[in-house]
Amino acid sequence: MKITVVGAGAVGATTADNIARKELAAEVVLLDIKEGFAEGKALDMFQTAALLGWDTKLTGVTNDYSRTANSNVVVITSGLPRKPGMTREELIGVNAGIVKSVVDNILKYSPDAIFVIVSNPMDTMTYLALKASGLPKNRIIGMGGALDSARFKCYLSLAMNVSPNDLHASVIGGHGDTTMIPLKRLATWNGTPVTNYLDAATLDKVAADTMVGGATLTGLLGTSAWYAPGAASAAVVESIIRDEKRVIPCSVLLEGEYGQSDICMGVPVVLGKTGWEKIIDYKLNEEEQALFSKSADAVRNMNNVLST
Ligand code: NAI
Repeated sequence: MKITVVGAGAVGATTADNIARKELAAEVVLLDIKEGFAEGKALDMFQTAALLGWDTKLTGVTNDYSRTANSNVVVITSGLPRKPGMTREELIGVNAGIVKSVVDNILKYSPDAIFVIVSNPMDTMTYLALKASGLPKNRIIGMGGALDSARFKCYLSLAMNVSPNDLHASVIGGHGDTTMIPLKRLATWNGTPVTNYLDAATLDKVAADTMVGGATLTGLLGTSAWYAPGAASAAVVESIIRDEKRVIPCSVLLEGEYGQSDICMGVPVVLGKTGWEKIIDYKLNEEEQALFSKSADAVRNMNNVLST
């Protein structure tokens, strides 16, 4: 197996690091446009192999797509990140050009690759990658819900003083501060609803913290986060590469599911060796469905910016 990560910045390098440590593929290629940058990051990471005991051939390249040939999975993290006060949507123009050219270049050498799109605004970039490539829908997967759900579990675990690993909680909808939908009603701890343990105000606060989870970190760090985004991207890749069939919320093309069409948005999907294999219907109640429709309106407005 071979995996390419495009963009050797904070998120791309962390993704490659997680993938290499987990030995998800025999070979991992990190590619960046900045001269020597991916080579340096890859070499630094590879020097941890003998210390940490992993064995993945990890190399870095500057814009040489021939070295990515025959990749099974390609993660796209190239593009600008958010600065404090910026929304993900403000990145659209620059990142659209980058994502489109990266997809074109990758397909020249890896025509069968499955793409995981991370660059923001992620739902729109996923839709763009799908439309620009003409690939089957199952091979284009936007990573956002994996991260947002992990953040939801983080804040739930802090509020409940329990392990995040015993929580099941999902965030669906658009991957934006105001468009994501933490599904409070369906969140469980050891199979029991978290509503048994948290009062409504506390649960609302947990959901609100989740929604601004990225912005909180951008405020603290002066740039956007990388540990959790890198781990979340690697988790998506892991389920595909190992054909685990894990259910993870990802941004995929909707064709009537959740009441939406011709849009990529976060919904729970089964991830396996052919990409996303199936959308799971969480049977939203009226209130949740209304939030999903409102979220779709915002994502659609963003997609329309691309065509103007
Ligand atoms: P960064 O600035 O650290 O890294 C971006 C890298 O992309 C840079 O090294 C840059 O040289 C490279 N790059 C730019 N144009 C390129 C091209 N044409 N080909 C190859 N490489 C190119 O940014 P960071 O923090 O790694 O974030 C990357 C992207 O991921 C941003 O758009 C950010 O908003 C997004 N993001 C998405 C998340 C999600 O949940 N979907 C979570 C966190 C970040």
